Amino acid sequence: MIKQEVIENILDSARIEEVVGDFVRLTKRGVNHIGLCPFHNEKTPSFTVSSAKGIFKCFGCGAGGDSVGFIMKHENYSYVEALRYLANKYNIEIEEQEQTPTQIKELNERETLYAVSSFAKNYFTKTLNETEEGKSLGLSYFKERGFSAKTIEKFQLGYVLQERDAFTQNALKNGYTINSLEKSGLTIVKENNYYIDRFRGRVIFPIQNFSGKIVGFGGRILSSVQQSNTAKYINSPETAIYHKSDVLYGLYTAKTAIKKEDCCFLVEGYTDVISLFQTGIENVVSSSGTSLTVGQIKLIRKLTDNITIVYDGDNAGIKAALRGISLILQEGMNVRVVLLPEGEDPDSFARNNTKEDCLNYIKEHEESFIQFKTNLLLKDVGNDPIRKAKLINEIAQDIALIKDLMTRTLFTKECSSLLDVSEEVLAQTVGKLRVKAYYDEQSKEKKEESKHEEKQAFVDAVTPNVISVQEIRLRGMSIEDIERKVIQLLINHGENIISLRISDKEEAMNIRIDQFIFDDLCDDGILFENSLYREFFHEYARIAESKRENIIGSLRQHQKEDIRNLCLELIHIPIQVSPLWESERIKSYINCIHNDESKLLEDVIRTLQMLKLLKIKLLIDSKQEQLKNGLTEEDESILLHEITTLKDKRKEIESVLGTAYRWN
Ligand code: CTP
Ligand code: MN
Repeated sequence: MIKQEVIENILDSARIEEVVGDFVRLTKRGVNHIGLCPFHNEKTPSFTVSSAKGIFKCFGCGAGGDSVGFIMKHENYSYVEALRYLANKYNIEIEEQEQTPTQIKELNERETLYAVSSFAKNYFTKTLNETEEGKSLGLSYFKERGFSAKTIEKFQLGYVLQERDAFTQNALKNGYTINSLEKSGLTIVKENNYYIDRFRGRVIFPIQNFSGKIVGFGGRILSSVQQSNTAKYINSPETAIYHKSDVLYGLYTAKTAIKKEDCCFLVEGYTDVISLFQTGIENVVSSSGTSLTVGQIKLIRKLTDNITIVYDGDNAGIKAALRGISLILQEGMNVRVVLLPEGEDPDSFARNNTKEDCLNYIKEHEESFIQFKTNLLLKDVGNDPIRKAKLINEIAQDIALIKDLMTRTLFTKECSSLLDVSEEVLAQTVGKLRVKAYYDEQSKEKKEESKHEEKQAFVDAVTPNVISVQEIRLRGMSIEDIERKVIQLLINHGENIISLRISDKEEAMNIRIDQFIFDDLCDDGILFENSLYREFFHEYARIAESKRENIIGSLRQHQKEDIRNLCLELIHIPIQVSPLWESERIKSYINCIHNDESKLLEDVIRTLQMLKLLKIKLLIDSKQEQLKNGLTEEDESILLHEITTLKDKRKEIESVLGTAYRWN
């Protein structure tokens, strides 16, 4: 039991933004902090932390509570476990009684595994530092590798005696059951109570989870006894608390540094993490020999958007490891890759160089992931055109995953020169894939719509649609007017190419108008209100997926009369310039309507922004209407929060469009 005064001390010391901040990336918003809710999946933050009140609240899923509540919920801890965690975080002494055998029996399975693992870790470090065998074999091995006493302590390194079941017998004596030892993977149980310590004769690397609890172990055989038939490393098997794919070695020790540097280095092995850390580069984690998983990426993403993969120069496994990395791009992370000089791994590199040299090398040699992959795969392609086409397609798929338009366009440019294909061809391939994504999204939405149709009809009957799309107007235009304008732009200029310039330094980049429109609407998840326009857009995307030219030509022959007519109605007849009209005035007049590229771009952007603005207005109005309905406090606060978020977005757009477009 923890004394009441100690509990009060813990509660007083715990600062909610620090406690939550260890697990969620928070940004300051007014007096509060906000971030992405760790308890449900969301893209825009609705998770709020109030330092003044000492509580967190998610307006999306309704989760809420104080520091203790957060840790209980996030880590699946009991109340007492959460208090212990906080006491440890804030260096508050709890007079802990050793658990009696009866108490140990009462723990549930996960708690038991945590307890066994923690016990084993302590036993292994003791064995390393206090037994003759541990000192002469284990400790001297680590010293030989250049690990300092401080490093050995920091990473809680240990050693397991060679004797077959010395650890198991000791654990049994301390009240742990053979069942729990077997479940933890620490003991291998054969017939007739014949026990084997899984890690016997190995040095030990304890593996901590995100909050620092020991969940598993890696064990390395000593070089002096290594035989060809034994694995160099063995790891804990999957258990109720250890899922290899959701753990990164070193993450707990690296957490603070990753946040501070806003970057995470990813290496392959235990010793790579430790040596870099010892050199002073602390923002480093390892996926321990496996290729990176989405679960691991999500862990890093809680701390930073930037990952730099640091690998051996001659590693054959790189290619396999990189397969999964497209996933990182999809998660919206920036991935860079550094190859070390031939024959070096991060461990040796860190031992042979100072912190500054290491960091400089990384800075000078890091490439974007896509560059890296392109170069790597290009080596295998040679002169084979079919393989090259396949490669181009593969790279295009990676690029298409990048959400940000500017980044995507920059990569397209870069890779086109690496692959020696025209920028246009690559951009088209990327474009097609993006359109396909939009088209798939719309189809999905359509399917869901029809599924919910009956239900929706009922809801409509009960709550009359007070807000009509036509009522909301901006500079005299309704949502439908603007949607029509978007269609008009597609019909008349969809295949036009405009050039965008991010900054004075960068070269201009080319992009098709239809692509630009799809991307923009796609990224904000905007669909058309008017059913004919929606269908037209959908059909346009379908056709654009298979052909890039004369899309309108196909739509004009569409089987549906409405779509054919829409084309006819909105198409501009290009003015045939007869020599008679070649006066300068007429020319400049024609230019200003049809040919001025920057005007066209401005028109497209303004139209899309107006559409978003109107949609936002529609949403805000309908939410405000809902507020009148007498809701629960919970629902009301969710709605209010959503309205605030929308208003923020509205402000952002208004600042792009200028004061003339501001609502009163
Ligand atoms: N690994 C493993 N099982 C093996 C070999 C490797 O789980 N049989 C994992 C370990 O996490 C190891 C990582 O893959 O740290 C990288 O392997 P490797 O490069 O072979 O090991 P190093 O980290 O270089 O280890 P050392 O320097 O101790 O040889
Ligand atoms: Mn090594």
